[in-house]
Amino acid sequence: MADATATDELKTLESQGLSELQASSDEAALRAWNTKYFGDKGLMKAALSGIGKVPKDQRAAFGQEANRVKVALTEAYDAALSAAKEKALAASLTASPLDVTLPGRPRTRGRLHPATQVLRQITAVFADMGFQVYRSREVETDQYNFEFLNMPEHHPARDMWDTFFTTTPGVVLRTHTSPGQIHVMRESAPNPVRVILPGMCYRNEAISTRSEIQFYQVEGLVIGEGVTMADLKGTITAFAHRLFGPERKVRIRSSYFPFTEPSIEVDIDWPADDPNRDRLTKGTGWLEIMGAGMVHPTVLRHGGYDPDKVTGFAFGMGPQRMLMLKHAIDDIRLFWQNDQRFLRQF
Ligand code: DAH
Repeated sequence: MADATATDELKTLESQGLSELQASSDEAALRAWNTKYFGDKGLMKAALSGIGKVPKDQRAAFGQEANRVKVALTEAYDAALSAAKEKALAASLTASPLDVTLPGRPRTRGRLHPATQVLRQITAVFADMGFQVYRSREVETDQYNFEFLNMPEHHPARDMWDTFFTTTPGVVLRTHTSPGQIHVMRESAPNPVRVILPGMCYRNEAISTRSEIQFYQVEGLVIGEGVTMADLKGTITAFAHRLFGPERKVRIRSSYFPFTEPSIEVDIDWPADDPNRDRLTKGTGWLEIMGAGMVHPTVLRHGGYDPDKVTGFAFGMGPQRMLMLKHAIDDIRLFWQNDQRFLRQF
């Protein structure tokens, strides 16, 4: 019977198709299977063309059977294809293990150099007390670096600074920020002054753990009518309390600088419970933080002020030295070596 043959062919096609589908192990094989069965010249089409041989009254039944087989094969194919895709994904995940739950790589953030940090802290404290920041030149004349600061040529006090002389006579790299005082005074006289002058200084030193040829200083200058040593003391005490803590005691010792009279050195007491106290203070309990004094009348005059009308005080400190003491940094060369292992700690 023709119709029985055609229907049988459909059934054979179905079971053959299903078993070949099972044998297709990957996506490529499955797609080849699909072409073989459902392509333009595929087996399904060929089987359907057998409808011509089916008697008219059985064609409807044949058509239904053909449809059933087609749906069964298509569904089986779709299921096999998605299973193959999942299997391939699982295989690739285990082949090169990728942990999608890992957090992303953080971007490393830059930070300020420790010397810059302490300069900014110092600047902020003085800014709160109404000080302006004045930036002065790093290349100076002998006059500004020494002479106007009350150290004429051949004055023995010049020996306190190991100077870099340039090949231009009379031009030096400033050995301290103090010459900035003269610049500020000459710009401001006869008006009152309240400034700090942070900046780089240079000295002709043999570089060692204790000395560098360049380092920061922060200079301070206040000029006005009736400015006294009490003002200096109050200002410095307020500064020390802000930077080192409100319970710090401030001690003043007499000293000598050519550009101040009287001259002092300022110490703060170091916390008794700090195990580093002895090392930091050489056993005294006191730590020197700056030199200071009342501006010498000769310096006031060089700045354009009348020492009979105004008085002033000045101070100078080494912020890197403060930092070294605070963090037990025992090699000053670390500051400008750009060694990340050092810099990252701040
Ligand atoms: N210029 C001094 C130095 O480099 C520090 C200093 C001391 C500055 C006393 C001052 C001062 O203004 O009054 O060692």
